[in-house]
Amino acid sequence: MRHLGPTLVAAAVALSACSKAPTTASTPEPSAPAAPMSAADRQAALVKLPAPYNTADLANGEAKFALCSACHTLAAGAPTMTGPNLHGVFGRKAASLAGFTYSEPLKATGWTWDAARMDSWITDPKVAVPGTKMTFAGLKDPKDRTDVIAYVMIGTGFQP
Ligand code: HEC
Repeated sequence: MRHLGPTLVAAAVALSACSKAPTTASTPEPSAPAAPMSAADRQAALVKLPAPYNTADLANGEAKFALCSACHTLAAGAPTMTGPNLHGVFGRKAASLAGFTYSEPLKATGWTWDAARMDSWITDPKVAVPGTKMTFAGLKDPKDRTDVIAYVMIGTGFQP
């Protein structure tokens, strides 16, 4: 998420430029996305995750999420791009983010996202859901999947 930094700053500047009353840097706009978590905050959140995610390698998870971040954001209020914003995705019904046009096959799964679903999904989305419009080749290494799922859990505000 580090790459979002300049974008968030630019958005905050744009927002404060629009508001009538001057705002200070210490009073974030309510609609602004949450600030990215520090590495220490993420590590503290990691140990509370269910096994095996609680011992995942977050640095590797972040590196592998670079493959997802071309299409997905994680933070609350961050934009939907080619793929839907993933905030709150764990426990959410598949294909249910309002305003995003999902494929019919993903809508038809009736799934609710949990770690096991996510693991099979990112192994090879077109095998998990033939006809999906998520064009992603897949992560074949199980450790990479565990690491990226832990990173996504933390980045999307998953509450164990
Ligand atoms: C090339 C763009 C692209 C990449 C790369 C990509 N996705 Fe997606 N993703 C999509 C699209 C498009 C959809 C909607 C799929 C559909 O409707 O069939 C989607 C859907 C999803 C969903 C379902 C969301 C929901 O609301 O039901 C999850 C979870 C997801 N992606 C996770 C990931 C993860 C994790 C990665 C990286 C390992 C990743 N995606 C890589 C484009 C992408």
